[in-house]
Amino acid sequence: MSPKKRLDPRLVSLTAAGSFAAEQYQGLRLTLERLGNGRGAQALAVTSPAAGDGKTVTAINLAGTLARGSEARVLLIDADLRRPAVGSQLRMDASARGLTDVLTDDRTTLDDVTTLLEQFNLSVVPAGTGHGAVHQMLRSARFERLLKEARERYDFIVLDTPPLLPVYDSALLAKSLDGVLMVVSANRSAESSRRRQGARHRLQQGRSAAVRLLRLLLPRILPGRLGQRSLTIHDS
Ligand SMILES: Nc1ncnc2c1ncn2[C@@H]1O[C@H](COP(=O)(O)OP(=O)(O)OP(=O)(O)O)[C@@H](O)[C@H]1O
Ligand SMILES: [Mg+2]
Repeated sequence: MSPKKRLDPRLVSLTAAGSFAAEQYQGLRLTLERLGNGRGAQALAVTSPAAGDGKTVTAINLAGTLARGSEARVLLIDADLRRPAVGSQLRMDASARGLTDVLTDDRTTLDDVTTLLEQFNLSVVPAGTGHGAVHQMLRSARFERLLKEARERYDFIVLDTPPLLPVYDSALLAKSLDGVLMVVSANRSAESSRRRQGARHRLQQGRSAAVRLLRLLLPRILPGRLGQRSLTIHDS
């Protein structure tokens, strides 16, 4: 793992722990802990209506916050098999095995594809090097087994996923999880609210009633001007 300073400065929970911007994610943590009548949300997908909304940055910041300074065991999984970015954001080796390797090869285990980033107390499964039809992989019994094992071994599991409007992957995953965090930019245009509604509708098709939907309004973070604005979380 390379020095912290080479990470994207927007990954505030890793690069600027203790800053106002990083502390914003603590509010999200409290909300997660409260979900499910206090049982908490253990496995959570991060998604958004469209590409480039800030899903990956949010997933890493959330996982980094959950893992920070505590005994918590946290697993971050890159389940955006279309445009994986967790591994590259965390400066992991591009040839590292990951989720697709477990899902396409019975001999590969969760341990084989997990890297512990010790400085952040964060375990990471990148997207990996396996090939296959994405929907089939995400629907497979292997995926369910992997998630079951992860639930037994980690306190929190955060999945980075693709945007909802172009593909159904996140809606498909949602049925196996406790919650879905929808990242929406703090942008009030008619177009963005139309996209939000479309994304929400698509998610409703996939999730069971037990899966909670949270919306996170993400202010633009300008590097060098971290921490000017608050995150807003809606539990719906
Ligand atoms: N809150 C933010 N403010 C400003 N820029 C941001 C913010 N969050 C992410 N970015 C930047 O926007 C770009 C897209 O972010 P990110 O990769 O997290 O989005 P994404 O939704 O995961 O994209 P994709 O749909 O391609 O997976 C990156 O360059 C990232 O550094
Ligand atoms: Mg992404």
